[in-house]
Amino acid sequence: MPLKPLKKAVLPVAGLGTRFLPATKTMAKEMLPIVDKPLIQYAVEEARAAGIEQFCFVTGRGKTMLVEHFDIAYELERTLAERGKEKELAALRADAPAPGSIMSVRQQVPMGLGHAIWCARAFIADDPFAILLPDDLMQCDVSCTAQLADAYRETGGNVVAIEEVPRERVNRYGVLDVAEDRGRLVSVKGLVEKPPIEKAPSNLTIIGRYVLMPEVIGHLARMEKGAGGEVQLTDGMAKLIGTQPFHGLRYEGRRFDCGDKAGFLEAQVAYALARPDLAPAMRDILKRYG
Ligand code: UTP
Repeated sequence: MPLKPLKKAVLPVAGLGTRFLPATKTMAKEMLPIVDKPLIQYAVEEARAAGIEQFCFVTGRGKTMLVEHFDIAYELERTLAERGKEKELAALRADAPAPGSIMSVRQQVPMGLGHAIWCARAFIADDPFAILLPDDLMQCDVSCTAQLADAYRETGGNVVAIEEVPRERVNRYGVLDVAEDRGRLVSVKGLVEKPPIEKAPSNLTIIGRYVLMPEVIGHLARMEKGAGGEVQLTDGMAKLIGTQPFHGLRYEGRRFDCGDKAGFLEAQVAYALARPDLAPAMRDILKRYG
């Protein structure tokens, strides 16, 4: 049977963002900008570059700004036009997603990432879907989600982006139990969320990019609580193993954990240095603090 095309993405944005309080008291963490663009917009652009056409934001209390960010800002556009700011206007319009391509569902209580994905079940229906956690910012020549989509077309089934971390940090991530390590692709025989360091089956960890099959929803629906008392996506995914292909992909590129203060600050520096208009100023700044 031919593979179903990958056209849908779920972006969970209902977390509390406690590590960024008080900035995140009334504002979603995913609206924090890296240089001049909010994290959510980087994620949407990355997904579009992978051919994703339909987006579902899983939002919570106080997160409506995230959805509004993708609306047309009539007053702003009129003012920019009146002031002859053609470049800014064109940039705003280029960013606008197709009408009807973004929807949002509500996760009233942040019960965990697995629960957030389950909240998008009507959107997912019977289709394969990507997940992007916008606080993982991916600096890649080829969109990280596009790399996963290519791997999905190669292997079928589920594919998660992975990276190696030092042993002492494996207890913060979902960790792979490896069946066969073929380099770029790793076939997976098990997954554990935040294992104690001494029990971790490897140091290959899942980052915030996934392509999953819709059957994961049935497993998440059982609402079994895992690490931290939350409904964990990793536990739901683990139940797919053995019934469907499951692979890890060593993606090409660099990840910035922008849910963490140090990662967020590093991303600001890296993205400024990658911009010809800002790189000289940023280099000067770094010299002064070196
Ligand atoms: P995090 O583990 O980073 O949690 O969530 P958080 O609440 O956003 O931030 P901290 O740890 O309190 O600072 C990873 C991703 O899962 C989403 C978050 O929005 C983020 O994109 N998430 C997490 C939900 O949507 N719902 C949840 O119940 C939990």
